[in-house]
Amino acid sequence: MDLPLGWRTDLSVLRLGGSTIEEYPDHLVVRTPANPTYYWGNFVFVTDPDTVDDAVGWLARFEQCFPDAGHRSIGLVAEPTDQAWHDVTMFIERADVLVAHGEVAQPPIAAGYTARPLATPDDWLQSTRLRQAAFPEQDEFEERVTATRIAVAAGGALTWFGAFAGDRLAAELGIASFGDGVARYQSVLTHPDHRRRGLTSHLLGAAAKHARDRGAESLVIIADADTDAGRLYRAAGFAFDSVNYQVSRVPGVVPSIIPAG
Ligand SMILES: CC(C)(COP(=O)(O)OP(=O)(O)OC[C@H]1O[C@@H](n2cnc3c(N)ncnc32)[C@H](O)[C@@H]1OP(=O)(O)O)[C@@H](O)C(=O)NCCC(=O)NCCS
Repeated sequence: MDLPLGWRTDLSVLRLGGSTIEEYPDHLVVRTPANPTYYWGNFVFVTDPDTVDDAVGWLARFEQCFPDAGHRSIGLVAEPTDQAWHDVTMFIERADVLVAHGEVAQPPIAAGYTARPLATPDDWLQSTRLRQAAFPEQDEFEERVTATRIAVAAGGALTWFGAFAGDRLAAELGIASFGDGVARYQSVLTHPDHRRRGLTSHLLGAAAKHARDRGAESLVIIADADTDAGRLYRAAGFAFDSVNYQVSRVPGVVPSIIPAG
């Protein structure tokens, strides 16, 4: 099945982390038993572009596959019609898939910081804490995410880069290589106290060099449309490839967030 680059690399990352993917003629069912509250690790992915607006049908399929889930997450291979999904109170997200085939800039790291791959248990604990500070509602979830990353990194397919102020982690990102000439960036984050000092810009370049040295030609990164991150990635050398479409509803979020169709 020839999936768009964004979803293809999402699924490759999930597979590396132990997720299972069941294939059906018009959809996939992705499950992450180690992290059942991971919305985008437990979802249905619609692979038939002609049915991406069958909101009622796909929602029923999700509920059949994940009867105990509080969330609803459905990935779509093609652009949906807003109204079809808003009618079932599902929120539509669009993200830009960007790719670098050429050079990725690597400005020198700012004075007072060092960059290196995460290696020790304390490095990984700091990584968990960095994300928990940014996303406080996801405490236990982030611990499970780190456990998966440690396991995948130990197998060599994933490297997690950090920028440290002394021994304190200030910024991080990961890069996963799939052995097919493609690598995918993950989870770019800088602590608010350390932003706008070029830390992400430096780590983007360091990870690119690392992946290129291991044979990756296409470097893929995803950013919500019209965000600071997207602008930063474009400035570093990434260019638009495609759009990732997904629809979701998360527990506790009122449907009024959904814009009028
Ligand atoms: C997006 C994010 C990762 C950027 O991290 P960062 O380390 O601040 O990134 P940089 O410092 O490399 O670049 C940020 C900006 O500062 C500018 N900058 C870099 N060095 C600078 C310096 N020494 N002085 C002033 N500005 C500088 C960059 O040019 C860039 O400018 P832009 O906003 O016009 O594009 C960070 O804001 C963040 O963690 N946001 C929340 C999570 C998020 O959105 N992650 C991305 C998901 S796709």
